[in-house]
Amino acid sequence: MHRDAFLSDSCPPMGIYETLYAFRDSFGQFMGTEGTHPWSQGFPLTTQLEGGPPLPSSVEVSWEDRFYPKAWGHPRLREAIAAHYNDFYGSSIAPENVMVFAGGRPGLFAVLAFLKEHVQVRIANAEWPAYLDLLTQTETNWQVVPSNAENGFHPPNSAYFQRDGLNARTHLLPVISNPGNPTGHTRVDAELEELMALAEQPKCGILLDEAYEMFHHSRGVSGMRYVQDLDNSNVFLAGACTKGLQCPGIRVGWIVASKHNIEVLSNFSSFGMGGVSHPSQLYAVELLERGRVAQARQAVDDHYSMQRARYGAAFEDMGLRVATGDGGFYHWLQLPEGLNARELNQRLFKHGAAILEGTDCDMARPHAKDPEYVSPYASWFRFSFGPLLPETFESDVAILRQVLEEYRADVRSGS
Ligand SMILES: Cc1ncc(COP(=O)(O)O)c(C=O)c1O
Repeated sequence: MHRDAFLSDSCPPMGIYETLYAFRDSFGQFMGTEGTHPWSQGFPLTTQLEGGPPLPSSVEVSWEDRFYPKAWGHPRLREAIAAHYNDFYGSSIAPENVMVFAGGRPGLFAVLAFLKEHVQVRIANAEWPAYLDLLTQTETNWQVVPSNAENGFHPPNSAYFQRDGLNARTHLLPVISNPGNPTGHTRVDAELEELMALAEQPKCGILLDEAYEMFHHSRGVSGMRYVQDLDNSNVFLAGACTKGLQCPGIRVGWIVASKHNIEVLSNFSSFGMGGVSHPSQLYAVELLERGRVAQARQAVDDHYSMQRARYGAAFEDMGLRVATGDGGFYHWLQLPEGLNARELNQRLFKHGAAILEGTDCDMARPHAKDPEYVSPYASWFRFSFGPLLPETFESDVAILRQVLEEYRADVRSGS
């Protein structure tokens, strides 16, 4: 470490990167390279899915695209995003309700960075590791909502809005990934309607992260369907081209919110971001073409529901506890008695594979890594089938089965 460095000593990479570095040290190659099994990775297939639309291979760039972008996003993309919600979810939002970011994370970061002091975030105990870093680094005030085997890793909506012990000044902002990362639990229909109604109450809001919007058998799930009065709310919906539109590399995401809140975010862009690459935004416009999205939603659901079902059955068959919901592209699994995910990973590394340890998803884990803290998720892990081709199913299952059998045998023999 450089002792006189001006930048913070407490800005570690997201938890998963520690696993990735440990993997590289053990296996000698980076996760994702040829011969590795990226079960720890949260990216989708970036090639055409069976029955899905082709992915554009180029985008036209004119002299105008070399200008500075607009702080709030390219007018064509804002229009395409607004139309996406209005077409699929029956809303009537305007382009002025949309702000474009360079991916999902920068949008989430900006919302949290500019929260007023009296806003308290509520977040489920098991959520996406990046949230922990985002909340910590933005010095957000947050409280954890229990999420465990007892409540099926699906806390009731009301748990996010409990006001016991709060003063009247405090406003509540649940942060929820829906479908959920890492659990796949998804709020839809009446439950989602109730969630949005609670979020539109006085002193309440929500940051609903819909990165996995298309990964559900309803072929698209968005709280936008139930929002009554966006412009008078503190509802923030986060979306991106990263998962269902299969393009993590173009770095396009967005926040949908009231016009006032969008204006604040675009002011931030004007001094802190400078807008988002025009070629990427134009590419995103093509991705969001209505007919194309309709076809993509069907293909994404066909492929990923099939993978979710067959991996889930195989995991149950090997004695893992499967606690996954019905959305997303992850399985949320518990190892049998006595086994823990850290040790499983050490063993998987030797086979070129890795999983995301449940502890990394623990929002109650003090970021400073208190050595006394025991995470309730030590025996839990997330298996990603996002990047896996259908052809690798048998070999993926065989590796996990073998490693698990060896690990169990070693535990039984005490070695
Ligand atoms: C819950 C969740 N939100 C948002 C994102 C989008 O991230 P980005 O577009 O910054 O890659 C991800 C990606 O892993 C995610 O899992």
